[in-house]
Amino acid sequence: MAPSTSFPTGVSEYTGQAPHITKPTELGHFSLSRQPGNPMVRRYHPDQRALLTLHRRGPDLVTERLDIDLTQGMDAFIDRGQAQKDAEHLYPILRWILENKRTFAQYRSKVNVICWRGRLTDLLVTPYNRKDTWTLVACNIDDIIYLSYVNESDKESKMDSTLEATVEKVPSLEDKRQTSRMYWGFKFEQVMTSPPGDETSLQKSVSNFESFQSVLYTKVGGYRGTGVLFGAEMDCLDPKKVPTKPPDCYVELKTCKGIEDESGMRSFCYHKLMQYWAQSFVCGVPTILVGFRLDNGHVLSTDELPMSKVPLIAQANGDAWKPAVCQNFLNSFLQFVTVLVTESHEQTIYKLKLDVSQQRVVVTREEATAQNQFVPTWYLDQRPG
Ligand code: A3P
Ligand code: MG
Ligand code: MG
Repeated sequence: MAPSTSFPTGVSEYTGQAPHITKPTELGHFSLSRQPGNPMVRRYHPDQRALLTLHRRGPDLVTERLDIDLTQGMDAFIDRGQAQKDAEHLYPILRWILENKRTFAQYRSKVNVICWRGRLTDLLVTPYNRKDTWTLVACNIDDIIYLSYVNESDKESKMDSTLEATVEKVPSLEDKRQTSRMYWGFKFEQVMTSPPGDETSLQKSVSNFESFQSVLYTKVGGYRGTGVLFGAEMDCLDPKKVPTKPPDCYVELKTCKGIEDESGMRSFCYHKLMQYWAQSFVCGVPTILVGFRLDNGHVLSTDELPMSKVPLIAQANGDAWKPAVCQNFLNSFLQFVTVLVTESHEQTIYKLKLDVSQQRVVVTREEATAQNQFVPTWYLDQRPG
């Protein structure tokens, strides 16, 4: 194995003026659903069938005196689960490329990196990330870098469990709370995309297999910057915004604990707002609709967070994070990856692991094998030239 390289992530390295990042253009879209008989890969549809429509609760997105019970139907939750997410890698995006070779050809010379939106969100928040470690995997195919992730913590816990004679783990109270919070997020999506008062639709089970994906292109870092083609799940379409072009017509839905006082507002800005901003900024979604809930999963109000105001809200409430730091890191890291990942996918798979305590991303190069190749042969065999 070749010697490792590393890349700094600390805030102080990235405080300069923000780089230019172009607003993303939508190149296409597709939908995903559950595939009976093959739970590890979702079914691909070359259409918008999974795009949901926002149903407003009032004339605008700010509503009070609601009582939406997000705990309904939790026992019937059809959860995709982490293992399925880990196994999918970039497959649906690769399928879109194969089915849209003509559109792809128009962008081919400008694309340096292909990934999911989630990787870009993770990178944007990395300078402020003190706890959530990640490992990216990257390979170079015809001078385009394919970027995905591997779940190293899962591997470590699997090794632990084989050593410890596989005792089934009992979920802790915190595990159960986390599962509830996750369910409430998906239930809120279902509620806000169903006609108000339609009890039958609210009793329908919730599944997180169905998803509408926008395929976007952005350029990070100006003229000589990094061109990125990426897939991003869009929660819903605001019919009031039609015919505004995508991605302006999409709305991101979020749930979080109600804010009661100044310290609650600071905590919201510190723990939630940066994540919300990063996720929607990178795909050009202009509006976030937040449902504020109690600890028992009842949403009592909603509020609109226009993306243009989010950095100002953060600044006015403790100034705990700065968009420019996030954007500078993303830009520098993408440049670093572009220079690093040069050996062909047939030879080398690069692993980039965030070490939060050292504030560095550590690179290792692995010889490509059937086990670590994450781009499937069906794509390699048919890929556009
Ligand atoms: P909330 O964000 O309202 O909690 P997204 O917000 O990206 O559209 O995702 C929809 C829901 O998926 C989230 O709703 C949350 O319930 C769940 N979710 C997304 N990312 C998650 C993560 N990293 N861990 C746990 N749940 C997550
Ligand atoms: Mg979503
Ligand atoms: Mg959402």
